Amino acid sequence: MPTIEVRFASGTRTDCVIEPGALQRLPALCAGAGLGGTPGLLCDARVLSLHPDALLSLGEHFGDPIGRAVSEARKTLPEVEAMCEALTARGVGRDGYVVAIGGGVLTDLAGLAAALYLRGVPWVSVPSTLLAQVDAGLGGKTGANLSAGKNLIGAFHQPRLVICDPLLLATLPSRERWSGLAEVVKCALLEGGDLLQRCERDLEQAAAGEAEALAPLVEGAVRLKARIVAADEREGGQRAFLNLGHTVGHALEAATGYTHFSHGEAVALGLRGMLALCDGMPERDRALRLVERIRIAAGSGLDSGQREAALQAMRRDKKVRRGGVRFVLLERIGTPVLREASAEDCARALAAALA
Ligand SMILES: NC(=O)c1ccc[n+]([C@@H]2O[C@H](COP(=O)([O-])OP(=O)(O)OC[C@H]3O[C@@H](n4cnc5c(N)ncnc54)[C@H](O)[C@@H]3O)[C@@H](O)[C@H]2O)c1
Ligand SMILES: [Zn+2]
Repeated sequence: MPTIEVRFASGTRTDCVIEPGALQRLPALCAGAGLGGTPGLLCDARVLSLHPDALLSLGEHFGDPIGRAVSEARKTLPEVEAMCEALTARGVGRDGYVVAIGGGVLTDLAGLAAALYLRGVPWVSVPSTLLAQVDAGLGGKTGANLSAGKNLIGAFHQPRLVICDPLLLATLPSRERWSGLAEVVKCALLEGGDLLQRCERDLEQAAAGEAEALAPLVEGAVRLKARIVAADEREGGQRAFLNLGHTVGHALEAATGYTHFSHGEAVALGLRGMLALCDGMPERDRALRLVERIRIAAGSGLDSGQREAALQAMRRDKKVRRGGVRFVLLERIGTPVLREASAEDCARALAAALA
C-alpha cells in the first residue's frame, strides 16, 4: 500500500494512502493517525446513494453519514454554515475531527467547514472523483464561491489524511473520469518518466474505470502534487506549475459560463493551446498525441462572441502581472517554465485549443 508522507515547513503533515479498498480501512487509518474524539462524517449525497453499504458500515465508527446534496452552484458559505450546524448537532468537539467523502465540491466545502468550525478541527479527505483524488484532495486549499467568481473565499487547512480508494471511481460517469484524466495527463507532462509512460499505455483502460490502471496513475499524480505543495505550501512559487494548460482552460470555462465544458475538457483543450506556444520543444508531437487522446464530449466550436470573451478572460486571469498574461509552458516534457505571453500569443493558443 503506497503511503505518501507530505511534510510542510509549517510543521503540519499529511499522509496520503492510495489503495483499492482503503475506504474500508478508514477507521483504522484515522486511529493510526492519532485522530480521536467525536468525528463528523460529511458525505456527498450522491456518493452515499451509490455506495450505501460501504458508507453506512462506516457509520458504526463515525456516526451516521451526514449526506449533503452539493453542487458547484451550491458551493457557498450557507452550505458551509449548514455543515457546521450538523457538526454541532453531532457533538463534534475541539478534540474531534471531520471526515469528508465526495468530489471536489464537497471536499472544498467540508475542508472549509473544518477550518472554521471551533476555529479549526483536523480533517480527513476521502476524494471520490478522479479529479478530486489527483487534485482537490491534497494541498489544503479549501473554499467556496461568491457570485463574482469561483473559490473567492477559502482558507488553507491541510488535511491530516488523504485516502484515495480507486474502487470509488467505478461509479463515476465516463465523462467525469476523462475530466480527471486530463489532470493526470497534465501531471504526466510536468513529470515525464514512469507516469508519462503509464498514461501512454493505460489511458483508455483507466477511462473505462479499471482500478489496476487507475491506481498507479492516481499515485503518480499525487506524488507529483505532494512534492510541489510540500515545497510551496501557500502557493508562492512552484504551485503555479500545476496551472499547466489552465490559462486557456479557465478562459474557455469562463467564456462558456462553466456549463459547456467539464473542467478536464477545458484543461485538455488548454494543454493543446499551451503546446502551440512551446516553440522548439523536443517531444512536442509526443505530448500532443497524448493530449489528443483525452475524450472531449462537449463540442469545441465557440462562436465569435465566446472567443472574444475567452481572450478577455485570459487577460483578467488571476495570473495577470503588469499587463502580461503568465503562461506555464514546457521547455521539454518534465521541465515547466513560466513565461509572459503577448496578446498575440493568447490568440494563437486559443486558436490551437479550438482547432
Ligand atoms: N482545493 C483544490 O485544490 C481544488 C483543486 C481542483 C479542483 N477543486 C474544486 O473541485 C471542484 C470540482 O471537483 P469535481 O470534478 O470532483 O466535481 P464535483 O464534486 O461536483 O463532482 C462531480 C459529480 O460527481 C459526483 N460524484 C462524486 N463522487 C462520485 C462517485 N464516486 N461516483 C459517481 N458520482 C460521483 C458528484 O456528486 C458530482 O455530481 C471544483 O469546485 C473545483 O473548484 C479544488
Ligand atoms: Zn484543474
